[in-house]
Amino acid sequence: MTFSEQLSADIALIEPALEGYLSRETHEGYDRIFEAAKYSAMAGGKRLRPVIVLEFCRLHGGDIKNALPFACALEMIHTYSLIHDDLPCMDNDDLRRGRPTCHKAFDEATAVLAGDGLLTAAFETASKADVPAETALRCIRILSENAGMNGMIGGQVLDMLAEHRRISETELRLLQKLKTGCLLRAACELGCAAAGKTDTESIAAARAYGDKLGLAFQIEDDILDIEGDEKTLGKSIGKDAASEKSTFPSLLGLDACRKLAGELTEQAVAALAPYEGRAFLETLARSLTGRKS
Ligand code: IPE
Ligand code: IPE
Ligand code: MG
Ligand code: MG
Ligand code: MG
Repeated sequence: MTFSEQLSADIALIEPALEGYLSRETHEGYDRIFEAAKYSAMAGGKRLRPVIVLEFCRLHGGDIKNALPFACALEMIHTYSLIHDDLPCMDNDDLRRGRPTCHKAFDEATAVLAGDGLLTAAFETASKADVPAETALRCIRILSENAGMNGMIGGQVLDMLAEHRRISETELRLLQKLKTGCLLRAACELGCAAAGKTDTESIAAARAYGDKLGLAFQIEDDILDIEGDEKTLGKSIGKDAASEKSTFPSLLGLDACRKLAGELTEQAVAALAPYEGRAFLETLARSLTGRKS
């Protein structure tokens, strides 16, 4: 299978599973919250995080069906983070995944609740996975540590504090590591856990790949906020400059950022050197440098 065939096959597993998890309940009278959650979750994001979960599971010889609930749980958490990130009290964005943002299509209260609902559904989904209880517990821990206040949420707090001021590169690295890196690191670790891999070396390699890729990914996101095309990107650009946010491009300039993203990508790839089945994850990492969406 070529890289793009495998990517399409993974996404073809993820999309219906995700929709299924968000459709399971009967919900008379409060359908609107499911509609809002599905509106944002089923809007065709890149599905990078769940693909990484499946592919780390495959890398370790696991059955990717075991990883699917955790892949979907992570994508629910990612989608919730985007819904809340777009709210007027945060980035105040109108466009996401090529559609009006959740609070524009519904209303602010519904968007807050849709985010809360997706976050909660993620843990319900993970807890019901058909895997040994120890594996489910490990995955729930990975999800909660990386999504929580010492993870993505902490990063979002630092991100807000980086508006209208210049922070140091060290501060910025921590911000990006938490804000974006944590969910990507979680993706890699979840794949290992779903395959039953809990040894120190496997986890260290997963973390190294996730951390380097996460930083490179956010640098590309910040570059796209400057020179991306709104239509291709499916979200508005120029937001970081408008809020005078400290980003890698604002600190280092675009050329240094491209170079750094390339170097980080190669470091991510290098972390997988011990694994024979690494080709997909190598190509995936490289395909994200200079991405257009
Ligand atoms: C956007 O993530 C937010 C960041 C952490 C940069 P993605 O670029 O993965 O968004 P989708 O899932 O494809 O919409
Ligand atoms: C958000 O970063 C990362 C999250 C944790 C949601 P950004 O604010 O840069 O993401 P975009 O550019 O709106 O997708
Ligand atoms: Mg933001
Ligand atoms: Mg934003
Ligand atoms: Mg951005």
